[in-house]
Amino acid sequence: MEKAWWKESVVYQIYPRSFKDSNGDGIGDLQGIIAKLDYLKKLGVDIVWLSPVYKSPNDDNGYDISDYRDIMDEFGTMADWDELLAGLHERGMKLMMDLVVNHSSDEHAWFIESRKSKENDYRDYYIWRPGKNRKEPNNWVSFFSGSAWQYDKATDEYYLHLFSKKQPDLNWENETVRREVYDMMTWWLDRGIDGFRMDVINMISKVEGLPDGHQQEEGEYAWGGDYFLNGPRVHEYLQEMNREVLSKYDIMTVGECPGTSVEDAQRYANSEGTELNMIFTFEHMDLDAGPGGKWDMRPWQLQELKKVMSKWQYGLEGKGWNSLYLNNHDQARMVSRFGDDREYRVKSAKMLGTFLHMLKGTPYIYQGEEIGMTNVQFDITEYNDLEILNMYEERVTKGGGNHAKVMEAIHAKSRDNARTPMQWDAGENAGFTTGIPWLKVNPNCSDINVEQALNDPNSVFYYYQKLIKLRKQYEVIVYGTYELILKEHLQVYAYTRRFVDQILLVINNFSAETAQCQLPEGIKYKSVELLISNEPVKEGFTPSITLTPYESRVYLLKQ
Ligand code: NOJ
Repeated sequence: MEKAWWKESVVYQIYPRSFKDSNGDGIGDLQGIIAKLDYLKKLGVDIVWLSPVYKSPNDDNGYDISDYRDIMDEFGTMADWDELLAGLHERGMKLMMDLVVNHSSDEHAWFIESRKSKENDYRDYYIWRPGKNRKEPNNWVSFFSGSAWQYDKATDEYYLHLFSKKQPDLNWENETVRREVYDMMTWWLDRGIDGFRMDVINMISKVEGLPDGHQQEEGEYAWGGDYFLNGPRVHEYLQEMNREVLSKYDIMTVGECPGTSVEDAQRYANSEGTELNMIFTFEHMDLDAGPGGKWDMRPWQLQELKKVMSKWQYGLEGKGWNSLYLNNHDQARMVSRFGDDREYRVKSAKMLGTFLHMLKGTPYIYQGEEIGMTNVQFDITEYNDLEILNMYEERVTKGGGNHAKVMEAIHAKSRDNARTPMQWDAGENAGFTTGIPWLKVNPNCSDINVEQALNDPNSVFYYYQKLIKLRKQYEVIVYGTYELILKEHLQVYAYTRRFVDQILLVINNFSAETAQCQLPEGIKYKSVELLISNEPVKEGFTPSITLTPYESRVYLLKQ
């Protein structure tokens, strides 16, 4: 297995709108991030992934870009951005930018031209089709509810938008579009950035003819994923991008790839390096989704988590590289979802951090995770995210669905759970802004905030700091081979990592009850050391271990 700096690194994701406001307009900005660089350095992370900061009308908070080479007004200027990059580099940290090129904003100059006429030079930059029997060209549903097609009167045709109607899909079949994207990427790389996180990059190739999805019910829009996820030319495009751009720089790339199998990932993240370094997969994020999808909730099961994580750990061994995350700007807070955000908040947040950071792959920390931030339970009028609002309108306002049931799902799963402002202190608006925050602050900020965490030696923050430090000290954490143990245990997720003469033994109690476990025979060792645990361990190491609720331990055995 080849060594690489991006395997040895820990990434910290910043959602700029919610991180830190420096000018009192209620919206986080670049100067706000700059003011917190020493905080990130103290945590010890290596790379900052910045969610989009480009010019955008903010229909989807920056994931709808109207100018790829400029900065959003609310966030600051290009000079601020230069200062941010320099500030990170001075402190020995790197910057990974978000690359959103499956679609642009409908306010991008390309689209403004494209919609003018069928003969326009930019027409073919997007995916236009005539209607069928006066209806949409096919039955695909958009990720944000309703049809994935929008009728445009000027030319009497529809354009495809897998996301909101203000996010028209770019036409990657068009070589000029690809050239534009590569030039833009090169432009950023030449400014000195250290990598890209690529938004829904496995959706850029659509199956020719854009066939209808399989309908569940007559007349309803249908899931068209079979025809745009991991499409026929996606690997060709990524290899081209790699040849033309990525391979010329020493950077890190991660592709967001919903609906991928291990076999797909072995190609996207292949160890020859012809495409990307790693991808984000979603199987573990779907464990609490029923057949009706994200909003159709069901309890997740530890056995299934073991199965999914192990499948990816084994499947990419020697053949690719995993990215490790339990939350991001699109997901609920991990301590609320997989831990206990009340009685055992601190302890279970530490357990989940251990579980993740000791797996094989590159760990991602989402802002606020390092202080154990939790979900919120707002009123429908207090939410901002278009995914929630569109879904609510479709199901409740128009569809007559049950308000309480839909709210329950929103409280558990909404993306705004992750987007409430970062909690810096116990003051007004959690120290995020002196103005009115664009999204309400979580009311628990008086207890859960950075200031508190920095003053408490037992905080989640210092525990994460230690997890990150350990990664720098022990190669086994980065390069060791994963093996699941105690497979049938219903409370404990335990695994080993082996590297040369070292064995890392990671034991996590995922339950609020005491757990008894018996380690498998055959783990031979000469010495044993407890590397980290989320509560003091008094007894010496034996194969028979009793864990308190949400207890987590990592032992290093030497052979
Ligand atoms: C995935 C991003 O993470 C999400 O926030 C966004 O809404 C969609 N892609 C569309 O860009």
